[in-house]
Amino acid sequence: MQLQITNDYRGLSRAAARIMAQRILTKPNLVLGLATGKTPIGMYEELVALYRQGLVDFSSLVTFNVDEFFAIPVDHPLSYHHYMEEHLFQHVNINSRNTHFPSTTVSDANAVCREYERRIQAHGGIDLQILGIGHNGHIGFNEPGSDWGTTTRLVTLTEETRARLANRDVSLTEVPRQAITLGIKTIMHAKEILLLASGREKAMIVRQALQGPVSTDIPASILQLHPRLTVVLDRDAAKELNDLDDLRRLE
Ligand code: PGA
Repeated sequence: MQLQITNDYRGLSRAAARIMAQRILTKPNLVLGLATGKTPIGMYEELVALYRQGLVDFSSLVTFNVDEFFAIPVDHPLSYHHYMEEHLFQHVNINSRNTHFPSTTVSDANAVCREYERRIQAHGGIDLQILGIGHNGHIGFNEPGSDWGTTTRLVTLTEETRARLANRDVSLTEVPRQAITLGIKTIMHAKEILLLASGREKAMIVRQALQGPVSTDIPASILQLHPRLTVVLDRDAAKELNDLDDLRRLE
Protein backbone atom coordinates (compact mmCIF):
# COMPACT_ATOMS: atom_id res chain seq x y z
CA MET A 1 0.00 0.00 0.00
CA GLN A 2 1.17 3.48 -0.84
CA LEU A 3 0.01 6.02 1.73
CA GLN A 4 0.00 9.76 1.19
CA ILE A 5 -1.18 12.11 3.93
CA THR A 6 -1.83 15.70 2.93
CA ASN A 7 -2.32 18.75 5.10
CA ASP A 8 -5.86 19.40 4.00
CA TYR A 9 -8.63 18.63 1.52
CA ARG A 10 -7.10 20.81 -1.18
CA GLY A 11 -3.85 18.88 -0.93
CA LEU A 12 -5.73 15.59 -1.11
CA SER A 13 -7.60 16.74 -4.20
CA ARG A 14 -4.39 17.82 -5.91
CA ALA A 15 -2.52 14.66 -5.03
CA ALA A 16 -5.36 12.47 -6.31
CA ALA A 17 -5.76 14.47 -9.53
CA ARG A 18 -2.04 14.21 -10.20
CA ILE A 19 -2.08 10.44 -9.78
CA MET A 20 -4.98 10.25 -12.23
CA ALA A 21 -3.28 12.59 -14.68
CA GLN A 22 -0.09 10.53 -14.56
CA ARG A 23 -1.97 7.34 -15.32
CA ILE A 24 -3.86 8.99 -18.22
CA LEU A 25 -0.60 10.35 -19.64
CA THR A 26 0.93 6.88 -19.46
CA LYS A 27 -2.11 5.22 -21.03
CA PRO A 28 -4.44 7.62 -22.88
CA ASN A 29 -7.12 4.92 -23.31
CA LEU A 30 -7.10 4.13 -19.59
CA VAL A 31 -10.20 2.36 -18.26
CA LEU A 32 -11.13 4.39 -15.22
CA GLY A 33 -13.55 3.39 -12.49
CA LEU A 34 -15.12 6.57 -11.16
CA ALA A 35 -16.53 7.41 -7.74
CA THR A 36 -18.98 10.09 -6.70
CA GLY A 37 -19.88 11.62 -3.32
CA LYS A 38 -18.39 14.66 -1.61
CA THR A 39 -14.82 13.43 -1.36
CA PRO A 40 -13.78 13.41 -5.05
CA ILE A 41 -15.36 16.77 -5.96
CA GLY A 42 -12.10 18.66 -5.36
CA MET A 43 -10.15 16.05 -7.31
CA TYR A 44 -12.43 16.54 -10.32
CA GLU A 45 -11.98 20.31 -10.03
CA GLU A 46 -8.22 19.87 -10.07
CA LEU A 47 -8.46 17.55 -13.07
CA VAL A 48 -10.51 20.14 -14.96
CA ALA A 49 -7.81 22.70 -14.11
CA LEU A 50 -5.11 20.37 -15.48
CA TYR A 51 -7.19 19.88 -18.62
CA ARG A 52 -7.55 23.64 -19.11
CA GLN A 53 -3.78 23.95 -18.89
CA GLY A 54 -3.52 21.40 -21.70
CA LEU A 55 -1.94 18.80 -19.44
CA VAL A 56 -4.52 16.01 -19.68
CA ASP A 57 -6.41 14.69 -22.67
CA PHE A 58 -9.61 12.75 -21.96
CA SER A 59 -10.50 11.96 -25.57
CA SER A 60 -9.56 8.26 -25.47
CA LEU A 61 -10.44 7.64 -21.82
CA VAL A 62 -13.07 5.02 -20.96
CA THR A 63 -15.01 5.36 -17.72
CA PHE A 64 -17.27 3.14 -15.65
CA ASN A 65 -18.99 4.63 -12.65
CA VAL A 66 -18.89 2.43 -9.60
CA ASP A 67 -22.58 2.81 -8.80
CA GLU A 68 -25.85 4.49 -9.66
CA PHE A 69 -29.28 4.60 -8.07
CA PHE A 70 -31.84 2.24 -9.48
CA ALA A 71 -34.80 3.53 -11.46
CA ILE A 72 -34.20 7.27 -11.23
CA PRO A 73 -34.09 9.62 -14.21
CA VAL A 74 -30.73 11.06 -15.28
CA ASP A 75 -31.88 14.54 -14.26
CA HIS A 76 -32.75 13.43 -10.70
CA PRO A 77 -30.70 15.59 -8.30
CA LEU A 78 -29.08 12.46 -6.82
CA SER A 79 -28.22 10.90 -10.19
CA TYR A 80 -24.52 10.10 -10.42
CA HIS A 81 -24.74 10.54 -14.16
CA HIS A 82 -25.80 14.11 -13.49
CA TYR A 83 -23.02 14.48 -10.91
CA MET A 84 -20.36 13.36 -13.38
CA GLU A 85 -21.62 15.77 -16.02
CA GLU A 86 -21.58 18.62 -13.53
CA HIS A 87 -18.21 17.95 -11.95
CA LEU A 88 -16.17 16.56 -14.83
CA PHE A 89 -17.62 15.49 -18.16
CA GLN A 90 -19.06 18.78 -19.39
CA HIS A 91 -15.76 20.56 -18.71
CA VAL A 92 -13.38 18.23 -20.56
CA ASN A 93 -13.01 16.57 -23.95
CA ILE A 94 -14.35 13.18 -22.89
CA ASN A 95 -16.29 11.23 -25.51
CA SER A 96 -19.73 10.50 -24.07
CA ARG A 97 -19.76 7.17 -25.92
CA ASN A 98 -16.88 6.10 -23.67
CA THR A 99 -18.63 6.87 -20.37
CA HIS A 100 -20.63 4.10 -18.74
CA PHE A 101 -23.18 3.94 -15.96
CA PRO A 102 -25.28 1.01 -14.88
CA SER A 103 -28.45 1.84 -16.79
CA THR A 104 -31.28 2.71 -14.46
CA THR A 105 -34.07 2.79 -16.98
CA VAL A 106 -34.38 -0.92 -17.73
CA SER A 107 -36.49 -2.94 -15.34
CA ASP A 108 -34.50 -6.17 -15.64
CA ALA A 109 -31.77 -5.33 -13.16
CA ASN A 110 -30.01 -8.68 -13.54
CA ALA A 111 -29.62 -8.16 -17.29
CA VAL A 112 -28.31 -4.63 -16.67
CA CYS A 113 -25.73 -5.93 -14.21
CA ARG A 114 -24.56 -8.73 -16.49
CA GLU A 115 -24.20 -6.27 -19.36
CA TYR A 116 -22.18 -3.86 -17.20
CA GLU A 117 -19.76 -6.62 -16.21
CA ARG A 118 -19.53 -7.74 -19.84
CA ARG A 119 -18.66 -4.24 -21.01
CA ILE A 120 -15.96 -3.87 -18.37
CA GLN A 121 -14.42 -7.18 -19.45
CA ALA A 122 -14.73 -6.19 -23.14
CA HIS A 123 -12.55 -3.17 -22.34
CA GLY A 124 -9.97 -5.39 -20.67
CA GLY A 125 -11.03 -4.64 -17.08
CA ILE A 126 -10.63 -1.51 -14.98
CA ASP A 127 -7.11 -0.06 -14.93
CA LEU A 128 -7.61 2.42 -12.10
CA GLN A 129 -10.54 2.40 -9.71
CA ILE A 130 -11.17 5.55 -7.66
CA LEU A 131 -12.99 4.95 -4.36
CA GLY A 132 -14.32 6.91 -1.45
CA ILE A 133 -15.26 5.20 1.79
CA GLY A 134 -18.65 5.37 3.47
CA HIS A 135 -19.02 6.04 7.19
CA ASN A 136 -19.97 2.38 7.56
CA GLY A 137 -17.02 1.22 5.47
CA HIS A 138 -18.94 0.68 2.26
CA ILE A 139 -17.15 0.89 -1.09
CA GLY A 140 -19.41 1.68 -4.01
CA PHE A 141 -22.72 0.62 -2.52
CA ASN A 142 -21.33 -2.61 -1.15
CA GLU A 143 -22.79 -2.24 2.31
CA PRO A 144 -21.51 -4.14 5.40
CA GLY A 145 -22.12 -7.86 5.03
CA SER A 146 -21.53 -7.88 1.25
CA ASP A 147 -19.78 -11.06 0.13
CA TRP A 148 -16.26 -10.82 -1.19
CA GLY A 149 -17.30 -12.73 -4.33
CA THR A 150 -19.96 -10.27 -5.47
CA THR A 151 -20.09 -8.82 -8.97
CA THR A 152 -22.26 -5.97 -10.29
CA ARG A 153 -25.70 -6.27 -8.73
CA LEU A 154 -28.80 -4.57 -7.43
CA VAL A 155 -28.50 -3.73 -3.72
CA THR A 156 -30.75 -2.30 -1.04
CA LEU A 157 -29.25 0.71 0.72
CA THR A 158 -29.03 0.77 4.51
CA GLU A 159 -31.18 3.37 6.23
CA GLU A 160 -27.99 4.99 7.53
CA THR A 161 -26.70 5.43 4.00
CA ARG A 162 -30.07 6.78 2.81
CA ALA A 163 -30.17 9.30 5.67
CA ARG A 164 -26.70 10.57 4.75
CA LEU A 165 -27.73 10.98 1.12
CA ALA A 166 -30.70 13.19 1.97
CA ASN A 167 -29.81 16.84 1.64
CA ARG A 168 -31.24 20.33 1.26
CA ASP A 169 -32.73 19.47 -2.13
CA VAL A 170 -33.71 15.84 -1.58
CA SER A 171 -35.83 14.71 1.35
CA LEU A 172 -35.29 11.29 2.91
CA THR A 173 -38.44 9.89 1.29
CA GLU A 174 -37.07 10.88 -2.13
CA VAL A 175 -33.77 9.03 -1.61
CA PRO A 176 -33.93 5.80 -3.63
CA ARG A 177 -33.91 2.52 -1.73
CA GLN A 178 -31.94 0.57 -4.29
CA ALA A 179 -28.85 1.03 -6.39
CA ILE A 180 -26.68 -0.91 -8.79
CA THR A 181 -23.09 -1.22 -7.70
CA LEU A 182 -19.94 -2.89 -8.92
CA GLY A 183 -19.36 -5.89 -6.71
CA ILE A 184 -16.42 -6.33 -4.36
CA LYS A 185 -14.87 -8.93 -6.63
CA THR A 186 -15.18 -6.57 -9.61
CA ILE A 187 -13.54 -3.77 -7.62
CA MET A 188 -10.74 -6.05 -6.41
CA HIS A 189 -10.05 -7.07 -10.01
CA ALA A 190 -9.14 -3.48 -10.90
CA LYS A 191 -5.44 -3.34 -11.68
CA GLU A 192 -4.94 -0.38 -9.35
CA ILE A 193 -7.09 1.28 -6.69
CA LEU A 194 -6.96 4.84 -5.41
CA LEU A 195 -8.81 5.28 -2.11
CA LEU A 196 -9.57 8.77 -0.82
CA ALA A 197 -10.85 9.93 2.56
CA SER A 198 -11.12 13.38 4.04
CA GLY A 199 -12.14 14.82 7.39
CA ARG A 200 -12.20 13.81 11.02
CA GLU A 201 -15.55 12.06 10.65
CA LYS A 202 -13.85 9.45 8.47
CA ALA A 203 -10.88 8.90 10.81
CA MET A 204 -12.29 5.90 12.73
CA ILE A 205 -13.56 4.04 9.69
CA VAL A 206 -10.26 4.66 7.90
CA ARG A 207 -8.42 3.05 10.81
CA GLN A 208 -10.79 0.08 10.86
CA ALA A 209 -10.50 -0.35 7.10
CA LEU A 210 -6.71 -0.08 6.91
CA GLN A 211 -5.58 -1.49 10.25
CA GLY A 212 -8.44 -3.65 11.47
CA PRO A 213 -9.20 -7.25 10.55
CA VAL A 214 -10.29 -7.96 6.99
CA SER A 215 -13.98 -8.53 7.56
CA THR A 216 -17.21 -8.24 5.58
CA ASP A 217 -18.43 -6.01 8.45
CA ILE A 218 -16.13 -3.33 6.95
CA PRO A 219 -16.21 -3.87 3.18
CA ALA A 220 -13.29 -1.47 2.58
CA SER A 221 -11.02 -3.69 4.73
CA ILE A 222 -10.65 -6.06 1.75
CA LEU A 223 -8.57 -3.34 0.08
CA GLN A 224 -5.71 -4.27 2.44
CA LEU A 225 -5.26 -7.30 0.19
CA HIS A 226 -5.15 -5.40 -3.08
CA PRO A 227 -1.67 -5.61 -4.65
CA ARG A 228 -1.71 -2.02 -5.93
CA LEU A 229 -3.53 0.21 -3.50
CA THR A 230 -2.78 3.91 -3.08
CA VAL A 231 -4.47 5.69 -0.18
CA VAL A 232 -4.62 9.48 -0.06
CA LEU A 233 -5.88 10.94 3.21
CA ASP A 234 -5.92 14.41 4.60
CA ARG A 235 -4.48 14.86 8.09
CA ASP A 236 -7.89 14.75 9.74
CA ALA A 237 -8.87 11.45 8.13
CA ALA A 238 -5.49 9.97 9.14
CA LYS A 239 -5.79 11.05 12.79
CA GLU A 240 -6.70 7.64 14.22
CA LEU A 241 -4.10 5.62 12.34
CA ASN A 242 -1.50 3.93 14.54
CA ASP A 243 2.06 3.11 13.66
CA LEU A 244 2.17 5.03 10.42
CA ASP A 245 5.68 3.76 9.87
CA ASP A 246 4.41 0.17 9.86
CA LEU A 247 1.73 1.06 7.33
CA ARG A 248 4.28 2.79 5.14
CA ARG A 249 6.64 -0.15 5.42
CA LEU A 250 4.05 -2.14 3.45
CA GLU A 251 4.81 0.10 0.48
P1 PGA B 1 -18.57 10.84 0.59
O1 PGA B 1 -19.08 9.38 0.26
O2 PGA B 1 -17.41 11.11 -0.28
O3 PGA B 1 -19.76 11.71 0.25
O4 PGA B 1 -18.24 10.86 2.05
C1 PGA B 1 -18.16 8.33 0.23
C2 PGA B 1 -18.89 7.05 -0.04
O5 PGA B 1 -20.00 6.86 0.47
O6 PGA B 1 -18.31 6.21 -0.75
